Amino acid sequence: MGLIDVHAHLLPSIDHTEVTWESLEDLLSLYRACGFDTVCFTPHLYNPFVVTDIKGIRDAFKKAADMSEHHDLLPVLASEVYVSDEAFIKGLPIAGRYILLEFSTAFAPVNLVEKLDSISSELTPIIAHIERYSWLSADSQLVRLFKDKGYLIQINGKAVKKGGRVLEYLESGVVDLVASDCHGNRDDIIFAAEVISRYSMIQKKMNDLSREIKEVVQCF
Ligand SMILES: [Fe+2]
Repeated sequence: MGLIDVHAHLLPSIDHTEVTWESLEDLLSLYRACGFDTVCFTPHLYNPFVVTDIKGIRDAFKKAADMSEHHDLLPVLASEVYVSDEAFIKGLPIAGRYILLEFSTAFAPVNLVEKLDSISSELTPIIAHIERYSWLSADSQLVRLFKDKGYLIQINGKAVKKGGRVLEYLESGVVDLVASDCHGNRDDIIFAAEVISRYSMIQKKMNDLSREIKEVVQCF
């Protein structure tokens, strides 16, 4: 089973990324060499600290998807949605089933639990790079609640190289997904593949998710 990257910023001039159309070829080739067969393109949406050319997303994805297929990779268009104090969460879900969500690293959004509840009947939240949030920890009640509700916990492979809080999440067994969160650095892809291969339970969970996403995406 090939690996899946559920979180990457790879759309040149659209997303907040250093990737160019030339370097994308190289990164896609690297994905294949590292054992990936599916890549989710997840441009930032509503992040107050970055600019995304939202109107250009679909055209850029079409070009990136053609390139991906030449590298024998399944491309999936999705998004990384920044959740702050807006009443509703909206964005491009992964395969119509999962939605990648990020938050302020310093403060929890107002009414976060209620907001996640309000979308979770249709979409399963994926909590992006959970190791970044100072208001969460591996043993916090909120993380337990996320797990009880079936939300998925994602960490960045590159964070594992740095150590710290992310190791507590790994040791506690709550992590479901390891991703690259690649903004153009080749190492992010290599680190993600390495970490996935080191944790067999995570690999199994990711294989199941990958299988499901591929089935849905390939039906269209
Ligand atoms: Fe990201």
